[in-house]
Amino acid sequence: MTLLITGGAGYIGSHTVLELLSTGHDVLVLDNLSNSSRESLARVAALTGRTPGFVQGDVRDRTLLDRLFTQHDISGVVHFAGLKAVGESVREPLRYYDNNVTGTLTLCQAMMAADVHRLVFSSSATVYGDPASTPISEACPTGQPTNPYGRSKLMVEQILQDLAAADPRWSIALLRYFNPAGAHASGRIGEDPRGTPNNLLPYISQVAVGRLAQVSVFGGDYPTPDGTGIRDYIHVVDLALGHLAALDYLQRHPGLQAWNLGTGTGYSVLDMIHAFEAACGHAIAYTIAPRRAGDIAACWADPGKAARDLGWRAQRGLAQMMADTWRWQSGNPDGYPGD
Ligand code: NAD
Ligand code: UD1
Repeated sequence: MTLLITGGAGYIGSHTVLELLSTGHDVLVLDNLSNSSRESLARVAALTGRTPGFVQGDVRDRTLLDRLFTQHDISGVVHFAGLKAVGESVREPLRYYDNNVTGTLTLCQAMMAADVHRLVFSSSATVYGDPASTPISEACPTGQPTNPYGRSKLMVEQILQDLAAADPRWSIALLRYFNPAGAHASGRIGEDPRGTPNNLLPYISQVAVGRLAQVSVFGGDYPTPDGTGIRDYIHVVDLALGHLAALDYLQRHPGLQAWNLGTGTGYSVLDMIHAFEAACGHAIAYTIAPRRAGDIAACWADPGKAARDLGWRAQRGLAQMMADTWRWQSGNPDGYPGD
């Protein structure tokens, strides 16, 4: 039995593939490498001593999907493949809806034709919009995401809810990630954004390694203790392990469930900069800049439902997240070779 991992060469996908291989699962990765490098999977193979199957291709390619489902004994799918840059989604909405929404529709159609009904979907806390209160539990209503990327995630959630309601054979997990961060403890795989990073921790770590001059802290006047935005940063290895727990749960429970994958603790932008300084041993230059359009002041998870249902909790704290990020960034200052 094989698990199909779409987008498995990417940041979260590669860490999940590593954990799946380490626990004896057989894995087939489908990735078009639009935002990743094959090197991530080569390193996963070196770290685990097991080589995942790999097909370079697009999740919107129905003919290819049909072939993969025919040729492999696939028992479930983890669907990471998608585009994730918020600003880019504002400039190129059609590309985002096509990749994220059409991609998922095509995948589900191929799964249905192949009689495969176990699906884990990479959703995001962005589906909650600007929350009325924190921490955010799954019982909080989904809100109004402020950009096409966020709306594409919410649309896919709604499509999958309709699918599960229409056909009881499906078992589907909507995993709402809070802010993934960190890297594998080996320092061999990590986040390797193309171009200038949009997200905070890759930006900080590229300043630390001298690739960028200084961090712009987006807003110093939020109603938070130090005036900077608060988020729930979750170690990518904890996040990966959440997928294993969800896959296991889905094998025993049909229907659709949403789970927050977060730690339950929020840190401010300045907390993050100072924690990174402690990990890398030198100061990080930063300046307070205007707020970024679309940002909310504070957001962190109530992770209780995942703990109750899945027996999963994040284990890795801020210091380890920063140490692992620094090990990855300082050992690979330009990311994976050949990008
Ligand atoms: P990533 O860009 O590193 O990984 C996505 C992978 O999918 C890449 O390897 C890319 O090449 C591949 N891909 C994109 N479109 C594809 C297509 N049409 N066909 C085949 N492969 C395709 O991103 P990530 O951070 O690992 O995110 C994984 C998933 O989690 C995405 O769906 C993302 O939206 C979601 N997510 C990420 C975050 C985050 O902060 N990283 C937060 C919430 C949700
Ligand atoms: C962003 C996306 C969200 C997506 C998530 C993961 C927006 C509005 N939201 O979340 O949809 O799911 O990434 O990909 O873009 N910050 C700085 N300076 C920087 C970068 C960030 O101060 O250079 C601050 C932000 O204002 C925020 C925090 O750091 O307070 C985290 O930002 P970021 O890493 O971009 O994640 P989110 O905005 O939470």
